[in-house]
Amino acid sequence: MSIDVARDGAVAVVTVDRQDALNALDVATLTELRDRLGELAKDGTVRALVLTGAGEKAFVAGADIKYMSGLDPDGAKGWGALGHEAGRLLETMPKPTIAAINGFALGGGCELALACDLRYAAGRAKLGQPEINLGIVPGWGGTQRLARICGLGVAKDLIYTGRTVDAEEALRIGLVNAIADPVLDRALETAHALTAKSPVALALAKRLVNLAPGALDAEAEAFGELFASEDAKEGLAAFVDKREPRFTGR
Ligand code: CAA
Repeated sequence: MSIDVARDGAVAVVTVDRQDALNALDVATLTELRDRLGELAKDGTVRALVLTGAGEKAFVAGADIKYMSGLDPDGAKGWGALGHEAGRLLETMPKPTIAAINGFALGGGCELALACDLRYAAGRAKLGQPEINLGIVPGWGGTQRLARICGLGVAKDLIYTGRTVDAEEALRIGLVNAIADPVLDRALETAHALTAKSPVALALAKRLVNLAPGALDAEAEAFGELFASEDAKEGLAAFVDKREPRFTGR
């Protein structure tokens, strides 16, 4: 099996397992990942998702270079589109997604991590967009999301040079939120903490934070609408009453 989905309460743990290729994604693995992410996006019993790689060495070492070496432009467009679908699901599903980066996160692997809401790195992790060294460019959202998350200067440095950064540098440039070992434990801890929040407010926060800058009118509008929810009433009332809120998702 190349994509393993396990449940830990309301948290889904998705593991890419293709260890003989450092979890690089070939067509079968990426298609399965896209399909599983699509199911988990719609599954109301899943309140947070953790994405990680099997084994000690790699999160995902990128798109499968051997497969890509035989692609013509039409094939490469389809391949890019498939990666974008997986990234878009991680970025837009109405629940938090967390990358537990347990080793190499290169090329498409770094791009999938960038599509997640949060990124934690193991001390041994190595991240980067080495596509330039293959004569190509990031094709699964890296040119946009790396710039958005780390700023244009960092994105241009990493994408132009193709250099790899270690966990310490990744933390310094904002590419990961924290370094933790074991990294999966840290990701699960945060995921479980987030399942205690209002899923209504969390989904809206995710949608709003992801809006392009300049969409402040939409934020003002959506913020107001949220006040019709029972969770907003409960959360505000609980603070006033000095008690823990009990969110129902309505
Ligand atoms: N595609 C296919 N196979 C890969 C791979 C990849 N991205 N990354 C690693 N592998 C394979 C290796 O070919 C090797 O297989 P064999 O044993 O059959 O030779 C196996 O995994 C183990 O890899 P190494 O022997 O190279 O391990 P290492 O520890 O010496 O080096 C590494 C590790 C530095 C990560 C090195 O494997 C490497 O540079 N991999 C390529 C990383 C890369 O360039 N990723 C970006 C791909 S392009 C992309 O993702 C485009 C996009 O935006 C969508």
